Amino acid sequence: MTGWVLSIDQGTTSTRAIVFNDSFESVGVGQREFPQHFPHEGWVEHDPEDLWNTTVETCREALSEAGLAAEKIIGVGITNQRETTLIWDRKTGEPVYNAIVWQDRRTSAFCSTLKAAGHEEMFTRKTGLLLDPYFSGTKVAWILDNVEGVRERAEAGELAFGTVDTWLIWRLTGGKSHVTDATNASRTLLYNIGENRWDEELLALLNIPMSLLPEVKDCADEFGTITADLLGAELPIYGVAGDQQAATVGQACFKQGMVKSTYGTGCFALLNTGEELVYSKNRLLSTIAYRLNGKTTYALEGSIFIAGAAVQWLRDGLKIIDNAAQTQLMAENADPESHVYLVPAFVGLGAPYWDPEARAAIFGMTRSTGQDEIARAALESVGYQTVDLINSKSSDMGSPLNGDTVLRVDGGMVASDWTMQFLADILGRPVDRPVVQETTALGVAWLAGMKAGVWPSMEEFSQRWHLDRRFEPNMEAAEREKRLSGWHDAVSRTRSQAS
Ligand code: G3P
Repeated sequence: MTGWVLSIDQGTTSTRAIVFNDSFESVGVGQREFPQHFPHEGWVEHDPEDLWNTTVETCREALSEAGLAAEKIIGVGITNQRETTLIWDRKTGEPVYNAIVWQDRRTSAFCSTLKAAGHEEMFTRKTGLLLDPYFSGTKVAWILDNVEGVRERAEAGELAFGTVDTWLIWRLTGGKSHVTDATNASRTLLYNIGENRWDEELLALLNIPMSLLPEVKDCADEFGTITADLLGAELPIYGVAGDQQAATVGQACFKQGMVKSTYGTGCFALLNTGEELVYSKNRLLSTIAYRLNGKTTYALEGSIFIAGAAVQWLRDGLKIIDNAAQTQLMAENADPESHVYLVPAFVGLGAPYWDPEARAAIFGMTRSTGQDEIARAALESVGYQTVDLINSKSSDMGSPLNGDTVLRVDGGMVASDWTMQFLADILGRPVDRPVVQETTALGVAWLAGMKAGVWPSMEEFSQRWHLDRRFEPNMEAAEREKRLSGWHDAVSRTRSQAS
């Protein structure tokens, strides 16, 4: 039976919509970038209307490029930048404030106060997360406490909170559905991932009323119906997952021990830990990988805030490139003898350091250092940061991840062969790049197509994962050690005194 699925991928810097056919091929794509707002040092916001408008526009573009009438779509999947926080009026659908983006550091002091009061252990035990401004909870508290009149309206039950999935579903269903899925809920700092429920004790600590929160569903579930006026037909939303969890699904990392790493704005490596909620001893996150038919599969996650964004900085900040693809040639041309390290702590450091006050720096420059060496250092920083995550994971699992354990990679940066080869070299393990690199969008497309009863089971979907290219490690161990020690020295010099 034939069935096309429409996938919406609302990311940090752009919104994409993709129509997949039942061979999992993309047959229509729409993509729009939208503005980033930096109202103060360390603050990052999006205009909620930009997120909404680019979603509707890209869906229309994707359908038109696919040459399909909306009636042909059997289900819609939504995946999204996670943790980004919105609050809006339940009657009018008007946001009370801009979306506070996951990268935003404004609640750093609040997190420190909660930590100093000894609350981190409980937050970690219940949510798998840490007290870092990255997550939604302290952002919700900030809006309630700083935007005039919002707390009163929230107490009166007039407002709704949501991550980006919830916001889009609310608007797409004409305000009928206030829902999220278990993976997005697991990033809020308010959701008890062991018991699968919003946690009253955590809500009380952050002074957030329960009435703000959406209903939490499985990843393949009935999330509501898109109203006919938007795309030309009523369409059911059947699949939802945060973008990193969607990529885990799209990479078919369904078995315990499988690892994927996605290189978008940031880099997020998830290791499937099966039904077991594993707590990290190395400051990784425990999170929900997916929840299907009420059964939760967990993951250990390493989150790096800046990966592709470092290349964006070369383009928009330093202005030494016009497009990302140029970095490959620059890296090849860079002096092999130079050892320049770029620590991209532009918004602090994520796993395993969790230092919101650290700031970016370049080390090891000499009189001969030029643009090529800096571009290479930006690409290399992605590899070094991945090593830190994988080493932490090995240590958490009680044994080194087997040298044969393969890392499945995806995201915009994996198009660079140079970067993927460096990644394999510095990791000392193979790196697998799949044929379909739109794994995030594919992940929720599969969830939606399966829920519609048309797309195949998990086993068959896994068998249809195909390798594009395997990058084998090809660096002497001594060289690897030398470089890693240079990297760790550089990182230590960016750390804030507070941590
Ligand atoms: O946790 C943040 C993450 O979901 C953002 O993903 O793809 O926009 O870098 P991306």
